Order: sequence, then structure tokens, then C-alpha cells
Amino acid sequence: MEKFYTTTAIDYVNGAPHIGHAYEKILTDVIQRHFSKRIKDVYMLTGVDEHGIKIQKTSALLNISPKEFCDMNAQKFIDAWKLLDINYSQFIRTTDEMHIKAVQKIFTKLINKGDIYKHSYKGLYCSGCEAFLSEKDLDEDGNCPVHKKKPEVVSEENYFFKLTKYKDAIIKHIKDNPDFIIPSFRANEVLNQLENIEDISVSRAKTSVNWGIDVETDDSQVIYVWIDALSNYITALGYSVDSIDDKFKKYWPAEVQVIGKDILKFHAIYWIALLMALELPLPKHLLAHGWITIDEAKMSKSLGNVVSPESVMKAFNMDSPDAFRYYMASAAPVGKDGNYSDDDFKEKVNAHLANSMGNLLNRTLSMLVKYFDGEIKKEFIVESELFKKAKETIKEVKHHFDYFEVAEAAGKIFELVDCINKYVTDNAPWTLAKEGKMKECGEVLYVVLETMCAVSSLIYPYCPNIAQNMAKQLKYNLDTFYDDITFNNIKEGKLISKDEIKPVFLRLDSEFAPKSAKK
Ligand code: MSP
Repeated sequence: MEKFYTTTAIDYVNGAPHIGHAYEKILTDVIQRHFSKRIKDVYMLTGVDEHGIKIQKTSALLNISPKEFCDMNAQKFIDAWKLLDINYSQFIRTTDEMHIKAVQKIFTKLINKGDIYKHSYKGLYCSGCEAFLSEKDLDEDGNCPVHKKKPEVVSEENYFFKLTKYKDAIIKHIKDNPDFIIPSFRANEVLNQLENIEDISVSRAKTSVNWGIDVETDDSQVIYVWIDALSNYITALGYSVDSIDDKFKKYWPAEVQVIGKDILKFHAIYWIALLMALELPLPKHLLAHGWITIDEAKMSKSLGNVVSPESVMKAFNMDSPDAFRYYMASAAPVGKDGNYSDDDFKEKVNAHLANSMGNLLNRTLSMLVKYFDGEIKKEFIVESELFKKAKETIKEVKHHFDYFEVAEAAGKIFELVDCINKYVTDNAPWTLAKEGKMKECGEVLYVVLETMCAVSSLIYPYCPNIAQNMAKQLKYNLDTFYDDITFNNIKEGKLISKDEIKPVFLRLDSEFAPKSAKK
């Protein structure tokens, strides 16, 4: 693999970013940072979804233009991802001129191809989903099961996309590629949904929705938000039907497209059909993550339990997002739902990042200074079983990431940290020093520090700032690729002096923290 292109869903800008949105961006960022240590050319796309009836209505209520409203809210997402050190390569807005032009060309191409046709239609439209629902999608009260509202009866002449033409090909693709949809248990859900698919309406009359991309050949219609939104993954790279940038040629198809389980249908069916219609290669994997709840409850404005990444950072007085990134990234096994609670957050990151990992490095470096004035002597440099364990861990972590099992990989890293801690306890370097066994004591410290170099590399995707801090004190090059990690990084000579030793993670101190991250 020479390049690695990964994308997130693009968030609706009708609200502010919350930790559910953040979960997805963190997962994707951790994935791309991990692969940046395996593949030279890594590219991550994220952005915002700005068209549709909800934006039109909200901006009208605020008495500002939809574009002004989008500008204001898009910035909130940009700021939030900066706060969380999301290292994306590109941020797309669906109001970007190049995106609008490309979507229009895509639509016209599909009209010309006969895959998009005009048709009179009467249907049930849920503005929350920005989608037409069928009778069988509704709950027993006739409401949209997600938004708990009755859909509007909409009667219009719309353009339709021949989804049914691609049904068999999509089914075949899913069946032939068992790891196309991750986790695999979601593939069955999609196959069931495919059983009943119909052609879908892909435009709206401007009389109902006008905040959208105009159909190039028909000024009475705007393009359906999902066709607009889904296309971002290729328009961002400069795909525009008849003109195709080198960036697109280089990066498409994506290795993995990260999305929430609620929008898997749109990606595994609509998006794939669209790519098939455009005769473009398909992404290698779709990763459908689960949902983040707050104190085991669904986050919602009406429950008043929406937590923003910023409020977590403030509540715990954190100047680096690493702890939150680590907590979120390990919140749930792949594809399963996860939960955020203030107490659990504090307990987990204090236990893992401060006690297990941070203290281990701090204590070891302090002993090196105390007993050897921070110097590694030649005779300390030995082989160790612990290096074997670390090599195994690198392999296991890579294997988990091959299946985007981000939380599972974090578990393996902390198993290694636990082994190092056990090694220290078992060998008690402080006792060895007391008994005057200085060579043995130095060996133990050396083995720990050498293994901690690998730990800093492995933890880097989750906690880039902590990893930098560790690497700095270990004089270790964090740019090392995972396959190039050797266990001879710590060299003979002075490694560190007392005033260079800094804790890599301070326990979250409730003393300064407001009671909760909830607003
Ligand atoms: N705009 C569409 C996506 C278009 S992609 C071409 C959309 N936007 S959204 O803002 O509603 O959601 C954006 C992403 O955030 C989705 O992948 C969604 O699953 C995810 N999440 C929103 N709330 C979430 C949680 N509470 N927990 C985890 N992720 C959730 O859908």
C-alpha cells in the first residue's frame, strides 16, 4: 500500500460540534496517525455538510442568510477539531465553489447516462433525516423512528436515481467482500435494506427547498442533500467528471470511510450506487462506528445533556486533548456504542495515562538520575524478554488497525505497559541499588526505557502530545516507522538530567474542575 486516504462523515452545521461528532473525528485521526507510521502518504478528509431545509429554516429564524449561518457554524467545527489536534489534510465545505460545480457535473452526467430521470412523486419526507421515508420505516404512531415526528406529505416532480439498477451489483460486492463493511455484523442489515430498495428522489423543487445546489439543466430544482454530501469524498480530491486532478488519481479509492451506524445505509447503498454509476472504484472499507451516549443516555438538546469537546477540556482544566482523545478512542469495541461520563473519564485516564504509563517513565528516569546521574553505562545494554513482548505488541496493534479496531489496539498497548510495570516490580531496581548490585539495577532501568520508546510510538496516534513528551525525554525519534522499531535506541552516555524530567501526564485534578462537563 503506497497511500492511505481516509474520510469522516461531514457534519451538519445546523448545530455545534458535540462529543459524538468528536468521537468519529478522533477515531479517524487515530487511524490516520497510526497508518502514518506505516505508509508515507496519508491523507485525511473531513468537513461540513451545509445545504438543506434545516439550515434554510434555522437561518431564516435568525434573520441571516444561510451562507452567513454556515460560515458561523462551520468555524465552530474547525475550532473544535483544532482543539482536539485532529490532523486532517483537508476540510471541505459543501458550499465550496469547486464542490458545487463538480456536483452539478456529476448530476448532469447521470441524467445524460439515463441513471437520473424525472418523475412525479408523492411521498413522506422527514426533514430531520432529509430523506423520504416509506410507510414501513415509520413507528407505530406513524412517526419517523429517529426524530419522533410525523413526516410531511410532499408531492412534487423530482429527479430520480435508478438505484434499483445497481441493487444486484451492490449485493454481490458486499457478499464477495466480507470485510467491506466493518463491523461485519452490519453487512446483514444492509443486505436486508437492499431487499426492498426503490429508485430514490435526488432533487427537490425550489418551491420546497431552495438552499441547495442547483440542477445545472433545470433551474426549478435543487440537488438532494445526500447526493451533494456524499460526493464530497471525491470532489474534495478534484474529481469533476471531465476534469480530474492528480490528487484524485493518487488517493481515490479511499482505504476506509468512517461513518456512524445511523448513516451506513446512505454509504453502503446510495454512495456505492453513485460510484458504480460514475464507473469509479469503490472504497476498500466502510467503518460504521457506534454511538456515544452520556451517562448511558442518548445525547439530545431537549434532555440538556449535550457535551461539547470544549466543555470537557474546560471542566478538567486540560491544556492538551490527549486524555480525551485516548478516552474516546478506547470508548467502545469496533462498531459498538460507547459512553462518556465525567467520573469514568477521570478514573480511566488517571489510571492509564498517569499511573500506569506516565509514572512508569517518570520513576524510571528519576532512578536513572538518582543512581547513575542520568547516565546509561555500556554494561546496562542487554537483551530482554520484554523486547520480545513489545515486538509482539507492535504486531498485534498493527493487526487490530488492519481491521480498524482502535479500542482493541489501545488495550494491547496497555497490556504491554502493565507487563513493563510488573517487570519493574518483580526486579525492584531500588532494592538492587540498596544491595549495591548496580549493574543489575542499571540493566533493569535500561530495559524499561528501551521498551518505553516503543510504547511512545504506539501511543502516539491516541496521545500525540504525550508521545512527543515521552520521546523527548527518551531522546527517541518518534518518526520511526512501526516496522523499523529496533530495541537499540537508548545509547551509552548521558540520557537525561534531573531538571529535564517532566511528568508526561498530570492526574486530572478534581479540585479545579467544575462538577461536570455538561452544559
Ligand atoms: N451530514 C450527514 C453526513 C453526511 S456524510 C456524506 C450527517 N451529519 S451529522 O452531523 O448528523 O452526523 C455526522 C456524523 O456524526 C455521523 O457519522 C453520525 O453518525 C455521527 N454522530 C452524530 N451523533 C453521534 C453520537 N452521539 N455518537 C457518535 N457519533 C454520532 O449525518
